[in-house]
Amino acid sequence: MPDMLVKLYDLPEKQTLVQQLAQQGIMIKRGMSGDMHRAVAFVEEHFNASWRNSCQNAFARLPSGIFLAVRDKQIIGFACYDVVVRNFFGPTGVTDACRGLGVGKALLLECLHAMRSDGYAYAIIGWAEDAQTFYQRTVGATVIPNSFPGAYRNMVALD
Ligand SMILES: CC(C)(COP(=O)(O)OP(=O)(O)OC[C@H]1O[C@@H](n2cnc3c(N)ncnc32)[C@H](O)[C@@H]1OP(=O)(O)O)[C@@H](O)C(=O)NCCC(=O)NCCS
Repeated sequence: MPDMLVKLYDLPEKQTLVQQLAQQGIMIKRGMSGDMHRAVAFVEEHFNASWRNSCQNAFARLPSGIFLAVRDKQIIGFACYDVVVRNFFGPTGVTDACRGLGVGKALLLECLHAMRSDGYAYAIIGWAEDAQTFYQRTVGATVIPNSFPGAYRNMVALD
C-alpha cells in the first residue's frame, strides 16, 4: 500500500466535471460543521473506524479539510486532506452504488486544488490501497518507492 506523489502545479481543471455532476444532481461541496455528524456516520457505515477518525479531524479546523458529494440530500462520497499527516490527501471513498460516475475524481480534484491554494506544490496520497490506477489515471500520481508503512508505521494497529 504505497504512498503516491502528485504535482499540484500540473493539475487538470476541475470545473467541467463538477458542473457535469451538478447537472446530474450531484453536488460537490466543502463540509461545514453542521455536516459533521452526517459525514462521520456515513464514513462509519460505508468504510471503517480509522477513516471515521480522519473524517472527524477534518472538521477540527476552518475551512474544513473535507469535501462531500451529495445527492438528494444524502452523502454519497467524501474526500479529506491534511487530516492524517500534513500534505497528505485521503482518506476518500464513494458508495458502491455511485462508483464510476466521476464522483471520486471530482472529490480528488477539489481537495488537490484546495491544497494548491494552501501553498503546497506537491500532495502525497497516503496508503493508496487498490486505487493506484485510479490516481495514476486521474492526476498522474506516481508511486513513492518503499513508502509502506511509512508515515503509518507507528499506528497501534494497521487496520
Ligand atoms: C477509488 C474510488 C474513490 C473511485 O471513485 P469513483 O467515483 O468510482 O471514481 P470515478 O468514477 O471518478 O473514476 C474516475 C476514473 O478512474 C477510473 N477508476 C475508478 N476507480 C478505479 C480503480 N479502483 N482502479 C482503476 N481505475 C479506476 C474510472 O474508470 C475513471 O476512468 P475514466 O475517467 O477513464 O473513465 C472508489 O472506487 C472507492 O470508494 N473505492 C473504495 C475506497 C478506496 O479504495 N479509496 C481510496 C483509498 S486511498
